[in-house]
Amino acid sequence: MKHLLALLTALLLSPLAALRAAEPARITVEVEKPGHAVPATLYGIFFEEINHAGEGGLYAEMVLNRDFELTTLPKGAKWAGNLLRTADDWQERKWFGNELWGWQFVADGGARGSIRLDDCEPLNDRNPHSLRLTVREPGTRAGVANGGFWGMNFVAGRWYDLTFQARTDGAERIDINVALESANGRERYASAVVRGVGGAWKEYHVSLQAQASDRCGRLALTVNRAGTIWFDVVSLFPRDTFRNRPNGLRPDLAQALADLKPAFVRFPGGAIAGGLNLDNRIQWKNSIGAIAQRKGTMNLWGYWTSSGLGFHEYLQFCEDVGAAALWVCNPGFSDNYRHAEYAPADQVKEFVQEALDAIEYAIGPADSTWGAQRAANGHPAPFPLRYVEIGNEASGKVYGTNYVQFCAAIRAKYPALTIISNQRLKDAPVEVVDDHKYGNPASFFNAYGQYDRADRNGPKIYVGEYACSREVGEGNLSAALAEAAFLLGLERNSDVVVMSSYAPLLCHENDVTWMSNMLRFDNARVVRRSSYHVQRMLAANRPDVVLPTRVEPDAAPKDCDLFALAGLDRKSNEIILKIVNRSTAPRVVTIQLNGCSLPAKTARLITLSHEDPRAENTLDDPDLIVPRETTIAITGSKFQHTLSAKSLTVLRISQEEQMK
Ligand code: AHR
Repeated sequence: MKHLLALLTALLLSPLAALRAAEPARITVEVEKPGHAVPATLYGIFFEEINHAGEGGLYAEMVLNRDFELTTLPKGAKWAGNLLRTADDWQERKWFGNELWGWQFVADGGARGSIRLDDCEPLNDRNPHSLRLTVREPGTRAGVANGGFWGMNFVAGRWYDLTFQARTDGAERIDINVALESANGRERYASAVVRGVGGAWKEYHVSLQAQASDRCGRLALTVNRAGTIWFDVVSLFPRDTFRNRPNGLRPDLAQALADLKPAFVRFPGGAIAGGLNLDNRIQWKNSIGAIAQRKGTMNLWGYWTSSGLGFHEYLQFCEDVGAAALWVCNPGFSDNYRHAEYAPADQVKEFVQEALDAIEYAIGPADSTWGAQRAANGHPAPFPLRYVEIGNEASGKVYGTNYVQFCAAIRAKYPALTIISNQRLKDAPVEVVDDHKYGNPASFFNAYGQYDRADRNGPKIYVGEYACSREVGEGNLSAALAEAAFLLGLERNSDVVVMSSYAPLLCHENDVTWMSNMLRFDNARVVRRSSYHVQRMLAANRPDVVLPTRVEPDAAPKDCDLFALAGLDRKSNEIILKIVNRSTAPRVVTIQLNGCSLPAKTARLITLSHEDPRAENTLDDPDLIVPRETTIAITGSKFQHTLSAKSLTVLRISQEEQMK
């Protein structure tokens, strides 16, 4: 009845759509003619530090601007009013409101004093600035507070670990009160006193257990006497991190990524691998070791990053989720779209060496120079680095020349690594090439057949970034279904398309620089968008081999409502059939499985759908569109099934005899 009503509505609303919906459709699968194997590498993830994906996101650090370095410009760049201008004339907006962004002076009960950014007696050369607190009159308390990334999320009963560096002039010693408290400082959830802080720079630790919950709290460090004290690298971590790693990741976000069971994790980007200029590229050596020794960087997506989520943490995450690591190195010039700065030809070898050192850190023996650093940082065994991509979206003649140099050096030392190119190159053999695709739903449906025409004698293809991100608001079901159809096209061509990853991955609700992202979050919650569910459904139902699949009536993708692909799971002996119904009406299909004779039995059915294609999951309504699983009765090798309107359907049909 519901289906009939929907069909009638569709008839009234759109004669063309309704006509199509009324046409009998047939999906034929040739079960006895298995095609190519579907590579286990097909579904991975792409991580880039964009939209506060890491800083204030996946990276569990709760303090904003912990290192007091956020006024540091990339070398060679200058201020032009409120804009940053590189020597190659690229402009970026300012990423902070004042030089102590994130910090505020606390003066209770008539306290008087000040805070300021200071560069005398720095902690080290990577952290030349610190915060100087001067208290002239302590009142009831005076000090500094940090509200974190749009508020700190404290949960009653949970532990939080605070570390900070501090110094005083000469012999002065000061007791520091530390507190987890409400944004206005009136409610205190946890407090402790660190006694006798002072003298030369020293690291202090204290653990605090929150007695109440607050999603918008702050950290305060205060004193009860007059004096001057300097702070640096003030860090607050929840005790619970993903897999309990120190300097670790937010468990809910990391788990959402782990649930995708990605074959690989690509990092660190994205455009940030190139940087605004060469100094601004991701310099992996600045991102390892003790956090007080790391050097932060201005991120070209408009905020400061501490380098806390660094090379080691990325690799550890890959290992923790059972994924291969795909590291993108800088190709000897900065981001092409931001007026690239090129390293002079005779200096490209330094960039090649930077890449070789990174690889040695990841997989070199523990007694090699960089392998020993990895061991010193707690991981003597090699990490699962399998892929190195030379640059991101880099192009032009210089790219080709540099690529050859990188490739030769990496191949000579690490022949087992797969090297990925940004371009198809005339003068160099390319093993895997990285294609990117962003567009509207129509372009994604149309691209269903794009790789049918790919050169089977050319490089393998990695669709390294894709997202249906235009005309879909901040992402919605119609985008997810268009991506699903596109992905079926990739899987159908997975003899040549061997890897794919959606981009970008994560987005903080308060910093939506890039509209469509797979997961959105705030300080306390995460929402899995419908695109996430598409990814997860397809990856979890990746067959071992594809089976020839025909949809009738046959039409060009642009006129097509139905996209289908079948495959075989050899281990479970199941036929997996995946179908996208793009139409706003339910669709009756006859499914014919040739070459196998099945008795009447049940099959597993997983469906992702919603009547409104513009609908999307939100932080307040995270489960509006989620896959629903059930079993259906099928009449045998030929049966009818009604596809929901606007849906992705996965059918798993066992070829084993069913127990009665
Ligand atoms: O995914 C966001 C950006 O899109 C990436 O940084 C860049 O590679 C692409 O242009």
